[in-house]
Amino acid sequence: MSLESVKYERGKLEILDQLLLPLQTRYIKVQGVEDGWRVINKMQVRGAPAIAIVGCLSLAVELLKDNSLDKKIMRQEIEGKLNYLVSARPTAVNIKLAADELINLANTLSANEDVSPEEFKEKFISSIEGMLSKDIEDNKAIGKYGSEAILKNIEGEGSVRVLTHCNTGSLATAGYGTALGVIRSLHQSKRLERVYCTETRPYNQGARLTAYELVHEKIPSTLIVDSMVAALMRSRKINAVVVGADRVAANGDTVNKIGTYQIAILAKHHDVPFYVAAPFTSVDLSLASGERIKIEERPDREMTHIGEHRIAAPGIKCWNPSFDLTPANLITGIITEKGVFPPDRIKEYK
Ligand code: MRU
Repeated sequence: MSLESVKYERGKLEILDQLLLPLQTRYIKVQGVEDGWRVINKMQVRGAPAIAIVGCLSLAVELLKDNSLDKKIMRQEIEGKLNYLVSARPTAVNIKLAADELINLANTLSANEDVSPEEFKEKFISSIEGMLSKDIEDNKAIGKYGSEAILKNIEGEGSVRVLTHCNTGSLATAGYGTALGVIRSLHQSKRLERVYCTETRPYNQGARLTAYELVHEKIPSTLIVDSMVAALMRSRKINAVVVGADRVAANGDTVNKIGTYQIAILAKHHDVPFYVAAPFTSVDLSLASGERIKIEERPDREMTHIGEHRIAAPGIKCWNPSFDLTPANLITGIITEKGVFPPDRIKEYK
């Protein structure tokens, strides 16, 4: 059974505390928007699609508890709370786009006199709940299109070696995963020889989370340190790189976990196809290019310590951007739920 990062039934939301993985499995109750903001900000839940889903579900839980039945007040509160949730982490666009859509929905429902306050609430909550199944469906489609694209250039029934970075699996989404969904699909069709996953310093999403998911799913996998990618590509045939995205701009420039850019450069040098796997909820057409995407900078402690143990010399200054920008010209294709597109054509398909 695949890992469940989000457990939801109407009025009740729990998330798997990803700070404790892989050593402990503990779910945390999310009782409303304050809790939602906190678990996202502390990275107890992370990954662009999961951030959006948990943020919006925390609002659904809060609305259900709220007895107010004034549509204008509900609309106003919804807008304020969604904007607050978006502020928890700045780079992934999914939560911002979901918030914009939900604010539009609240405006429409509030303006429509045929919609009662009860119907307003019901329709609004159901629309948030729909995000869970939609994300899993999209990820399965991404898995299928991505594995077909990777296998297209492989002779006969040969199997492939793939490299991935960071965590894009069940833990980063509602389930199945984006880049990890592609890997899962290759494995299901028995065409995956092995996946290499990077440790993903400094937060170690690869070593802690992706490795955990791969072992759990019994997918043949090997962990490498981020600085081993060049040596890996030189010494073993890697058929494709597949990574996720936190935000894709209209020209296909992609912001993803720090370290993605250097892997894309190495892939180009070694002639390895480099794919980004992301649902359209990660595509931000309001930005012509990736240059203006705000890159979150995180605390020094993520670099200076491992758990409670200090590894860096006391007094050293740190620079800790959590994401980097991979220019579109290094990307072979963007794998979406609608198919695989050249980066510069992504805007035509949203
Ligand atoms: O900082 P995180 O862990 O929230 O980073 C987001 C990610 O998991 C990755 O960048 C990922 O590749 C894109 S989200 C599926």
